[in-house]
Amino acid sequence: PEERDRAKERAKELLARHDAVLVAHYYVDGDIQDLALETGGCVADSLEMARFGRDHPAKTLVVAGVRFMGETAKILSPDKRVLMPDLDATCSLDLGCPPDEFAAFCDAHPDRKVVVYANTSAAVKARADWMVTSSCALAIVSHLKAQGDKILWAPDRHLGRYIQEQTGADMLMWNGACIVHDEFKGLELELLRKEHPGALVLVHPESPRSVVEQADVVGSTSQLLNAVISSQAQEFIVATDNGILHRMRQLAPGKTLLEAPTAGRSATCKSCAHCPWMAMNALQGVVACLETGVGEITVPEPTRSQALGCIERMLDFVA
Ligand code: 13P
Ligand code: SF4
Repeated sequence: PEERDRAKERAKELLARHDAVLVAHYYVDGDIQDLALETGGCVADSLEMARFGRDHPAKTLVVAGVRFMGETAKILSPDKRVLMPDLDATCSLDLGCPPDEFAAFCDAHPDRKVVVYANTSAAVKARADWMVTSSCALAIVSHLKAQGDKILWAPDRHLGRYIQEQTGADMLMWNGACIVHDEFKGLELELLRKEHPGALVLVHPESPRSVVEQADVVGSTSQLLNAVISSQAQEFIVATDNGILHRMRQLAPGKTLLEAPTAGRSATCKSCAHCPWMAMNALQGVVACLETGVGEITVPEPTRSQALGCIERMLDFVA
């Protein structure tokens, strides 16, 4: 704890000295979330992180999350320095959608509007008409369907299927998945619900259908957090990365939060639903990137300006 306190104090000094602000996702370490809030930064879902970084006047953004979040921040704010505590923090959705293969997929279906999830590389976004996050995908695909567009969707198959079922849109899908949410199990969730009949089930739409089907609320990380705060219920089963429990506990003290069951769950594995890449974000990494400038995100032209269009289209749509 002493070392942690020292790292936190050092990070505070460095953030102030470098005119920097910390933009954190709910899945990162609780100490980093607290530091972000104590220093005027934010803890947010991926859409809100993008907006916050774009609108904040700081010269440097420290993005605690995974690489696509840092890239999105840089694409939106090329004049800001964007640092990340660990540049190796990636995402299975991003890894599973290589730009060359994706470009060939798009080339084969020129009649479709290309809609990509935020969890992709800048090069994939450069081929897209629209970017979406889990908080606005439903509204954007509904809008496209209403205009008569056919859609090419990538990369998350579970989110894509959920949106397809909700909207009835014509969607051709890439076959990607989040390694964390893919592990939630429908049958085990049913059993847990029987033990806790009063619990509200909160599910991130990157989860499989058998889990989403049992949800009382399906939504982005911020939407799930808001459900805990605003609902009358006292007990919740949470099917998303357990990093979010830190903020849920802070904002809804006294409510009972149960983690949804995952495949590898056992007495010795209490945190199976935790993204290994989000877990690479450490206070020491925040300090190191500010001290040395290591972990700077760059997005070369013309990729940056080509990727900007699909992100701005989304931000204008939700404004
Ligand atoms: P949210 O947009 O709901 O925060 O989810 C993004 C995500 O998957 C982060 O890993
Ligand atoms: Fe990617 Fe899943 Fe990790 Fe989010 S939780 S960064 S979607 S692997």
